[in-house]
Amino acid sequence: MLIAGNWKMNKTAEETAGFCAALKRRLTGLEGVDVAVFPPFTSLRAAVLELAETEIAVGAQNVHWEEVGAFTGEVSAVMLREVGAYAVIVGHSERRQYFGETDETTARRAAAALESGLSVIACVGELEAEREAGETGEVLRRQVLALPEDSELVIAYEPVWAIGTGKTATPDQAREAHAFIKGLVDVPVLYGGSVTPETAPDLLSQDGVDGALVGGASLDVESFAVICEIAAPA
Ligand code: PGA
Repeated sequence: MLIAGNWKMNKTAEETAGFCAALKRRLTGLEGVDVAVFPPFTSLRAAVLELAETEIAVGAQNVHWEEVGAFTGEVSAVMLREVGAYAVIVGHSERRQYFGETDETTARRAAAALESGLSVIACVGELEAEREAGETGEVLRRQVLALPEDSELVIAYEPVWAIGTGKTATPDQAREAHAFIKGLVDVPVLYGGSVTPETAPDLLSQDGVDGALVGGASLDVESFAVICEIAAPA
C-alpha cells in the first residue's frame, strides 16, 4: 500500500520542516506501507532534508514536459530530481478545473517525468454530473487510456465530487471504479477524495485499492499517521 499526502497549496518551508520532523517521529517503526508527502515546490527542499535517512518519500505536485525553456511558472523533471523528489502528481482535478489541464497535457507531463526517472501518480475521476449521467466508465476510459504505460505509473482514482467535500465514494463505488481502471491498465490504483481516519478502513480494505491519495487529512500529523497505520498490515 502507498499512502500519499497531497498538501496542495499548504505549508511554508518552515512549517514543512516542523511537520516532517513530527511525522518521522510518529511513524518510527511502522512497516509494510509506503508513505510519501507532496509539498508545494518551495517546501520540497525542507521536506527532503528533514526526511533524509527515513523511508518517507517526497514528491511534487506538478511538472512540465520540457527540460528547460521559456515556460514561465513551470518546473521541469530535472529540477525536481535535483531537489530530491522521487515522484510527481499529474492531472489532479484542481489542475484540470482551474488551470486548463487536459488529458493531453497530463499525458505529456507524465511521460516526461517517467522518462526522467520520476515515479508518477496520475489522477483520474469523474465529475458529479458525469456520474449522474452514467458516464463514469467513459470518462475514466478516456483519462486512463491517454496516459503512457510504465511500470512506475500509479493511478489515483479521485471522483471529483468527493474531493474536499467530505463526500466519500462508497466502498462499493471505489471497488467498482478500481476494477474498471485495472481492466484498462495493470498498475496500482490509489483512492482519493475525503479519505480520513474514519473513512480509510472501509476504503483501504476494498479489492483493487492499493492505497490512498490524501488531501485535507494529510495536513495534520496525527490524522495522516493514523491513515498510514490503517494501511499497514495488521
Ligand atoms: P481531500 O483531497 O482528501 O481533501 O478530499 C484529495 C485530493 O485532492 O487529492
